[in-house]
Amino acid sequence: MSLKRKVVLITGAGGGIGLAIVERLSREGSIIIASDLNLEVLQDAIAIAHKHNATLYPLVADLSVKSDCDQLPQRAYDINHSLDVLINNAGLMRRGNILETSDEDWALSMGVNVEAIFRLCRSTVGIMKNQGHGTIVNTASCWGIYPGPDHFVYCTTKAAVAAMTRCLGRDHAPDGIRVNAVCPNEVNTPMLRTGFEVRGFDPNEAIEELNKSVPIGHIAEPAEIADVIAFLASDESRYMCGALLEVNGGKPVY
Ligand SMILES: NC(=O)c1ccc[n+]([C@@H]2O[C@H](COP(=O)([O-])OP(=O)(O)OC[C@H]3O[C@@H](n4cnc5c(N)ncnc54)[C@H](O)[C@@H]3O)[C@@H](O)[C@H]2O)c1
Repeated sequence: MSLKRKVVLITGAGGGIGLAIVERLSREGSIIIASDLNLEVLQDAIAIAHKHNATLYPLVADLSVKSDCDQLPQRAYDINHSLDVLINNAGLMRRGNILETSDEDWALSMGVNVEAIFRLCRSTVGIMKNQGHGTIVNTASCWGIYPGPDHFVYCTTKAAVAAMTRCLGRDHAPDGIRVNAVCPNEVNTPMLRTGFEVRGFDPNEAIEELNKSVPIGHIAEPAEIADVIAFLASDESRYMCGALLEVNGGKPVY
């Protein structure tokens, strides 16, 4: 792939899918700028890059804070005077139907899953427009295209990510900036596993049961999503702008 020596900023780099992206980009020889809430969360990402002799710069930012979002792309750019790829992977999931959704659930979900992407994209598009090139990959969800049950605010935020991706893909193709989104269904990460835990299920048993509902035979492993993100980040997808790529093992949302 064309990701060797490319400067890639990843948010949520310490999470389930984030670590798989770090692993994949380490093997590609990218220059990785890994961002997350704090340095402790980034320790595994640092270790993965170290194992592959890859270059990784950790950058701490809280994406619920407007100024952190506004400044992060410039902080990343300043390290190498370049920013080739932004991967908007950070996100959180608040569960429940509308009656179970508090003001705090709404504000935090809209803040981290939607407003942060707006701010990160706005700063990044400014930088990439000056450079004359760049790629942005957003993580939406199948649940942002077809609503899954009882996740009112989460589905709403992911639908907004899908809409932003389509708008940006169209508006900035003439600037040499491609914007696309990956839309996974269920992925075996802490986000999914903690959901089972709070509902009193054993996550391993619950995932074994969930695997039976997927035509390909199992829910996604993080690497199966990271590989698609790497494709969207690379020149292999050079004619794709504003696409929402569903990665679901053949499982529809129901
Ligand atoms: N796991 C799934 O089933 C699934 C399915 C579809 C889409 N997604 C999306 O994939 C992305 C990655 O999710 P994951 O499954 O790896 O979850 P995860 O919980 O393992 O990782 C999420 C990461 O985002 C970071 N984050 C959360 N709030 C933040 C904040 N305020 N500031 C900075 N960072 C913050 C967390 O620290 C964590 O590292 C998310 O956008 C999620 O919505 C996940």
